[in-house]
Amino acid sequence: MKKNIAILPGDGIGPEVTAQALNVLKAVEKRFGHHFNYTYADVGAIAIEKHGDPLPEATLATCKNSDAILFGAIGHPKYDNDPTAKIRPEQGLLRLRKSLGLFANIRPVTAFPKLLHLSPLKEEKVRGVDFVIFRELTGGIYFGKKGKTESEAYDHCTYSRPEIERIAHLAFQEARKRRGKLTLVDKANVLETSRLWRKVVTEMHTSEYPDIEFDWLYVDNAAMQLIQWPARFDVVLTENMFGDILSDEASVLTGSMGMLPSASVGADTALFEPIHGSYPQAAGKDIANPMAAILSAAMLLDSFDLNEEASVVREAVQMVMEAGFGTEDLQAERVCKCSEIGGKVVELVEKIEVEVAV
Ligand code: IPM
Ligand code: MN
Repeated sequence: MKKNIAILPGDGIGPEVTAQALNVLKAVEKRFGHHFNYTYADVGAIAIEKHGDPLPEATLATCKNSDAILFGAIGHPKYDNDPTAKIRPEQGLLRLRKSLGLFANIRPVTAFPKLLHLSPLKEEKVRGVDFVIFRELTGGIYFGKKGKTESEAYDHCTYSRPEIERIAHLAFQEARKRRGKLTLVDKANVLETSRLWRKVVTEMHTSEYPDIEFDWLYVDNAAMQLIQWPARFDVVLTENMFGDILSDEASVLTGSMGMLPSASVGADTALFEPIHGSYPQAAGKDIANPMAAILSAAMLLDSFDLNEEASVVREAVQMVMEAGFGTEDLQAERVCKCSEIGGKVVELVEKIEVEVAV
């Protein structure tokens, strides 16, 4: 198979973890006889520095001409405490999502047996946790009308029926492939937009997905239940802002944020990225956990329907962890550098066999 992949390493630890994911993709190419053509492009703080723009035209063009995007991380401390900054690295990611129509952010949260003891929850609560969050990504308060005067500011939250329907379809279909449960998270006791979400998703359930077990939770209650009974969730569907907050909450349940990948999908080119940020304190030290980036590469392979290849990568990650290897954040029995962990995954990807469901 021939594919074009855009590589956007970004800031902080982004380049280090992306390099490991790339090595894994190269090992997949070699073993399975594929040809991936990689084009690098700048995004985030590094792009502001080099081009004065967190998403230069050339980067957007590269992304549009690619079959998939592998993204590292963005963000730099120098912008974080400056409310007057006009240009911010995050704008690059938001514009990229909007320009590519990446309306659904998919974040699987899976407990790794080896990491249960790292969870802030008791082991018995987190054992078996396996759910996926579908977060709407190009609407709501993030992209509504904004304004400010000296003494007032506002951010509008707007949703339309088609915006809700397209992601709800994806979430219901995923529930069908999994345990058949979908939970809508909203704030319908207060917000008009949430009442529209509730109405539209309930109608879709009745008319098109009656086989799915459907329930809903107010977002405050959902925040509580994620801690109290995380194993109750299968597919969680929610709007942009609630999804942003809940997915960070969910990411720590399973022990380390450094393990969790994500996919952002839309009509066309999809983007794959670890859910962690740029972690500037660790940048350049070769200590970051590359597993989330590597597992994001596995999701990218799935998007090409290369399911055996993706399974080999996931299995290799499991085996490295089961053998007790891990980066600092995992407090592993055998602490390794970011590049060493990547190297171990590559070695296994070159040779292990997996069973693939047909
Ligand atoms: C995320 C991040 C972004 C968001 C930031 C960097 C704009 O937190 O991908 O979850 O809020 O969507
Ligand atoms: Mn976030």
